[in-house]
Order: sequence, then C-alpha cells, then structure tokens
Amino acid sequence: MTSFIPVNEPLLDGNERKYLNDCIDSGWISAEGPYVRRFEAGLADRVHRRHGIAVTNGTDALDLAIWALNLEPGDEVILPAFTIISCANALVRHGLVPVVVDCDPSTWNMDTDVVRTRISAKTKAIMVVHIYGLPVDMDPILALIEEFGLQLVEDCAEAIGQTYRGRPCGSFGDISIFSFYANKHITTGEGGMVVTDDDNLAERCRWYRNLCFENPRFRHLEMGRNMRMSNIQAAVGVAQLERLDAFIERKRMIGDRYQERLSAIGNLQLPVSRTDYADNHYWVFALVLGDRIAFDAACAIERFAAKGIGTRPFFWPINQQPVFKRMGLFSDDYCPVAERISVRGLYLPSGLALDDSGIDQVCNVCFEVFEP
Ligand SMILES: Cc1ncc(COP(=O)(O)O)c(C=O)c1O
Repeated sequence: MTSFIPVNEPLLDGNERKYLNDCIDSGWISAEGPYVRRFEAGLADRVHRRHGIAVTNGTDALDLAIWALNLEPGDEVILPAFTIISCANALVRHGLVPVVVDCDPSTWNMDTDVVRTRISAKTKAIMVVHIYGLPVDMDPILALIEEFGLQLVEDCAEAIGQTYRGRPCGSFGDISIFSFYANKHITTGEGGMVVTDDDNLAERCRWYRNLCFENPRFRHLEMGRNMRMSNIQAAVGVAQLERLDAFIERKRMIGDRYQERLSAIGNLQLPVSRTDYADNHYWVFALVLGDRIAFDAACAIERFAAKGIGTRPFFWPINQQPVFKRMGLFSDDYCPVAERISVRGLYLPSGLALDDSGIDQVCNVCFEVFEP
C-alpha cells in the first residue's frame, strides 16, 4: 500500500525557519514587528500597488475591503455564483445586496456577458473572483466599470502572482485582496492582505483592522475589529514571497503533467490551460465529470480516498447556500452552470510538496476511478 497523498502540502524549506528564529530571538511576535511591513510592501510592490494591509485571513480581507468602500445599505454588488462563501458574507454583513452571475462552462469564471444584464440603478460595485488559477476576462469588466461608474473589488485569493494580459492580478480593483491559507501559492498558515492605490481606502482599512484606535488611545469613534497579522505569520510570508516565481513555475509543471496524462481519459473536463489573456497557474488542478460518467463528484471523492488520494469538491453555488436561502436571498436565481459543476467537480492533489511520482500515482488512480 502506497502512502496517502493529501490534497495539499505546502513547501516551507526556504528562509521561513531563519525568519521565524529572528522573530523569536528579537521578541517581535505581534503585529508591530518589522516583517509585517516588509511583507505588505513586498506584495504591494509585486502587484504594482501603493498600499498593502496585512490581515488575519482572506475572508477578513474581503470584509475589510467591503467595509472600507463605505457603500450604503441596500446597494447592490455583483459577484460570481461560483465562489467561496466569504465573498457573499462580506456583502451581506455590511447590509449590501449580493447579485449573482453564473460562470462560464469552460473557464468556471464569472460569465462576463451576463454581468451587464444584472446591472441595475442600485448597482454600486462588481466583485470579480479569479477562479482556480485562471483570471477573469477583465477587459469587458473594466468597460462596464467605466460605463456605469462602478467600484471594482478584486478577489485574488487564488491568483497570487498571476497576470492578465501581462498586468498583475491585484492591480485591477479599486481594492483587491489575497489569502495566504496553507493551500495558496504562498502561505502564512492563515493570513490575508488588502491592496489598493487609494490613500483613503488604505487608511480606513488600517483603522478598522486595528479596533479604530484614536488619539488619545483607548477612546473609539467606531467599532473596529482586530484583524492584524502577526510578525510570525508575516515572517513566513516574506520567505514565501521570495520564491513566488519558482512556486508558480512548479505549479505550472504540475498542471502540465496532469494535462498530458489525463487528456487520455474520455468524458472528463480538464482546466483550460491557456487563453489569449493568461496561462493558467493552477491554484488547483480541477476536473468536471462529463455526463457519461455514471457517478457524481461526491462518489468520486470517496473512491479516491479509498485509494489513498485526497481530493476536494468544488464550491457550492452562492445562490444555493442554505444560510442565504434561510434569509430569503436568491429565491429567483438559477445558475445552471455553477449548479452543475458544484456536483460534478472536484480537484486533485497539487500542493508544492507533491513530486512527479506523486502526480503519476494520482493519475494512475484517476484511470482506475474513471476508466475501470
Ligand atoms: C476566492 C477566495 N476568496 C477568499 C477566500 C478566503 O480566504 P481564507 O481562507 O484565507 O479566509 C478563499 C479561500 O480559499 C478563496 O478561494
């Protein structure tokens, strides 16, 4: 019996240990430490932004970004149906109305043709989410932003180091966010960042992130939160950021190897490897089971697990989330593509610690599961 292959295993064999020791030796372990500012400046610079605001995780980064935009309760924000719940949570928590758009059946990204049809007099912003390592087609979105005078929120949790027509993901939004959860291209264990060029947005983010502290200290005009990233997390982030390009290269090699071997399996949709605006950088290597496969993703996941392979299902569509149904949201929304891939989709192990023999082992199991 070969060993279990987890869906993700990060690589922490650069300067992580050295920088962590530095935190311990210097005593700087809280958010006041120098690695936080170094990490913020490093990532902001990488995506051509003036400000980086490091926070506790990507979910909080989204919350902070939406909070800082200062929209009015009842304002509508368009977002993809196929994304993590954090995107909609941030809107609903701030009294905004989430308006969902179905995804494109080949890229799994927000269908940019549908976005225009969902714009109303109440629409104030579009939230784009780059899905699974392939960017959203930004040109049509930017045209709508311009035409209707909307704000753009960009969720780059899955697109660190990715580019759209050569321009970094994270450089498009009025405000953009990243996640550094352990399965991202770079990780701090848990962590996130907001980036922006706007001084006011950045200042509001820093203020809300830190309990809305004022001068004199401990007197507060608003209810902030503690969303600060620690120096310990940022130290890992600085070390990881040093190797982002190498990590992306490895993720692309993993993706290419899967593409090459799995294209022989019929009736399995593989990720789009290349468009005219970007090469996939494979945050994950995802599959959608074709209609002739008699079982769904939940069943496939069990079969992979029984053969020692960790996999994960696709996102559950925002318009189908029980919590939002209970609130009476999305009662008229139907997103057939997102709803189909949510039951037919899963992704395979593709962590940076996965070696070629591991990929081949996963591919062999794919043949056993899909072409027994
Ligand atoms: C698109 C997207 N946005 C936001 C998040 C939330 O990030 P976190 O897990 O750091 O809260 C994730 C998490 O994977 C994500 O995939």
